[in-house]
Amino acid sequence: MSLVQTARTVRENAYAPYSNFKVGAAIRATSGVVYAGCNVENVAYPEGTCAEAGAIAAMIAAGDSAIAEVAVIADSPKPVSPCGGCRQKLAEFADGSVKVTMTTVDGVTQETTIADLLPGVFDAAHMERS
Ligand code: THU
Repeated sequence: MSLVQTARTVRENAYAPYSNFKVGAAIRATSGVVYAGCNVENVAYPEGTCAEAGAIAAMIAAGDSAIAEVAVIADSPKPVSPCGGCRQKLAEFADGSVKVTMTTVDGVTQETTIADLLPGVFDAAHMERS
């Protein structure tokens, strides 16, 4: 199954009763294993947890920590774009060159990279004097 197809399938499981905006994400780790995540909202924090964060959590829980490729999908007019917080979370585990495929359920697709999503990323090098 392609990474986008995995994201499309897991999106169906999203729990988004407050936004009604279901998102699916899939991460292929450098090990080759694919991890899936969907957004999960709750009444106290209706923004919930993003799909990308869910896929990262699954990857870390399984013992992988290096991202080779990312796909994100939603039912949006233009390819869904990871939120700011998720860009930082993805950058923690992915080189800038890692491909990110953003797509709609209709198949409108845009490819980018971690570096293009988060130019000037805050990283460990900024803390080298600490
Ligand atoms: N959402 C994601 O899952 N990923 C993103 O990158 C953008 C936003 C979710 C969070 C919330 O459940 C809903 O979309 C609306 O913000």
